[in-house]
Amino acid sequence: MSRIPPHIIDEIMQTSRIEEVIGEFVSLKKSGSNLKGLSPFVDEKSPSFMVSPAKQIFKCFSSGKGGTVVSFLMEKEHFSYPEALKWLADKYGIQVPEDKPQTAEEMAAITERESLYIINEFAKEHFMHNMHETNEGQNIGLSYFEERGFRKDIIQKFQLGYCLNSGDDFTKAALKKGYKKEYLESVGLTRTKEERSFDFFRGRVMFPIHSISGRVLGFGGRTLITDKKVAKYFNSPESIIYNKSEILYGLYFAKGDIIKYDNCFLCEGYTDVISMHQAGVPNSVASSGTSLTKEQIRLIKRYTQNITILYDGDAAGIKASFRGIDLILEEGMNVKVVLFPDGDDPDSYSKKVSTTELMDFIKANTQDFVSFKTSLLLAEGNNDPLQKAQIIRDVVHSISLIPDQITRSVFTTEIARVFGFDESIVINELNKLRKNNIARDLEEPQIAQNPAFTDTFTTPTPQSTTAQEVKNPYAIEEFELIRILVKYGIFAITTDHIDEHGVSHPVEVSVAELVHHELSKDELIFQYPIYQEIYQQIVEGLSSKTLYKISFWLRHEKPEVVQLITEIETDQYELSPKWLSKYNVDTNREVDKLKATVMNGIYAFKKLRIMQRIEQIQKDLNELAENITDEQLQDLLSEQIVLERVKMSIAGKLNQTIIH
Ligand code: CTP
Ligand code: MN
Repeated sequence: MSRIPPHIIDEIMQTSRIEEVIGEFVSLKKSGSNLKGLSPFVDEKSPSFMVSPAKQIFKCFSSGKGGTVVSFLMEKEHFSYPEALKWLADKYGIQVPEDKPQTAEEMAAITERESLYIINEFAKEHFMHNMHETNEGQNIGLSYFEERGFRKDIIQKFQLGYCLNSGDDFTKAALKKGYKKEYLESVGLTRTKEERSFDFFRGRVMFPIHSISGRVLGFGGRTLITDKKVAKYFNSPESIIYNKSEILYGLYFAKGDIIKYDNCFLCEGYTDVISMHQAGVPNSVASSGTSLTKEQIRLIKRYTQNITILYDGDAAGIKASFRGIDLILEEGMNVKVVLFPDGDDPDSYSKKVSTTELMDFIKANTQDFVSFKTSLLLAEGNNDPLQKAQIIRDVVHSISLIPDQITRSVFTTEIARVFGFDESIVINELNKLRKNNIARDLEEPQIAQNPAFTDTFTTPTPQSTTAQEVKNPYAIEEFELIRILVKYGIFAITTDHIDEHGVSHPVEVSVAELVHHELSKDELIFQYPIYQEIYQQIVEGLSSKTLYKISFWLRHEKPEVVQLITEIETDQYELSPKWLSKYNVDTNREVDKLKATVMNGIYAFKKLRIMQRIEQIQKDLNELAENITDEQLQDLLSEQIVLERVKMSIAGKLNQTIIH
């Protein structure tokens, strides 16, 4: 992908609102000057994910991830750097100059994952074109949708398409475009048998399946033939970009309305979702053929606590879906159920009635899961007392999965009422089941508690310091000096310069220059690659009289760099307790005592290197042992003596600057 000009990148970064973009992925609530929500990166019960509109950064305290709006999109949606910028430009209506043709080198640099996204995007466009612009497409694909009553704007919105029946129309077009056959096969669009390649979805109408940001991850293709032997739907196979247990059909279109109505309607199929949208019920998604998974439920949970399942009229599949209800309850969410009349699904029913009638029907027929399960089970068990006991146990089991005690007791009251029991009997049964559940929970790995966060976006908890150490295997001294460089590199401080006559003059230098001067004097570099990369770039900047502000680093192409800078921006207090006890630096006032902070950073860094070298000398001495020559021994020992002396002197300087 060609480069986006820097002034356009600036415009994109200045226009983008991180809270708006992330708000599409998570429901965010105000928390002081920040916004918080459930982390989209890890499974968590209480929100530890923070967004700062003022700083335009996010921080996930559960996973440690953090960064800008661009790094969020890269992390969450696997966009490349330019792709993330283009997505933002598109969202905010900023013109980005057209791509130049890709060079062979650029093509080679594209990862498999990116290629698969590009192919799916191409396929979506191709199938839409097929449907709207070819005779076959119009007569067969488009007319099918129109006969089913789908409106033009809805067909466009859901990017529905048609795959020609010719056999290999799509495959040929994709190969001509230069896409690798191997990739066409791994997204399942092309199949090859005995050296002949053909379109997997030929003759089918196509439903693109979107990620939360609208990337096409895969397709569902419906046959137009009514032959029981032909599978009604073909779906894309699992691939590195398509994991069907973690995707909900329609979520891309529904997410805003799920937040707005604080409820999510869960349907069974593609056409149900589309018809619900058309009927004016846009907070609808579908699990599309798979039985509902934990991951799908957690996707919904990021937007709302409330799920209403819409079931087809045929009772056959319903019992199999009880597991889904239990999974929702286990997540601590509220689940309601609507059963459509026999033979109808949301798609067919919504076509028969007006929007008001549909909404009235849904309202009148929404049941909580207790009455839904009991009425269903009672209907099939002809009042046999033994069966009845089993039903009660079954429903109580579902109640036992609810994490919240108050909610549990609401339902125990209800079930006791429905069956005309004393509530204590139900509670007794429930407690037995709870014990089993708790025992089972204990066998599963425990998830670490989220640190409580404060309004200032920081977590001064000891756990966070430990997390920091795990993340950064290199010494705290390296981090501290990089922190100083990034945060204060452009600040000026006065230092003494000793001229050739030995006379000292005060001169003003930037912090970056001073650090560079000090490190290059001893030929020191950073051991941690990302730090060294940042340092290198700072040094190169110096040679062209350029100093970089924090905002420069936050725009960096490498997510690791952005992540680190975000940490520096948000976590300085997280780190400081340890630093504080070690070197007694008061970070709250470090701007006032900038020179002391900088010199401490430099000396500590140097001291670290000296200690490392002394350690190495010890190791060498041990390894060489008796085989050591006099000369080697002499060299190593004298180096060690010098180092020890320098170490002492640095320790003295560290103390001095602290006293200042
Ligand atoms: N499904 C599937 N493969 C099949 C049948 C169904 O993947 N052979 C999935 C599809 O995602 C489908 C959903 O299960 O949307 C529900 O199936 P069904 O109710 O049979 O289809 P509808 O969505 O009602 O489709 P239509 O209205 O076109 O018959
Ligand atoms: Mn249907």
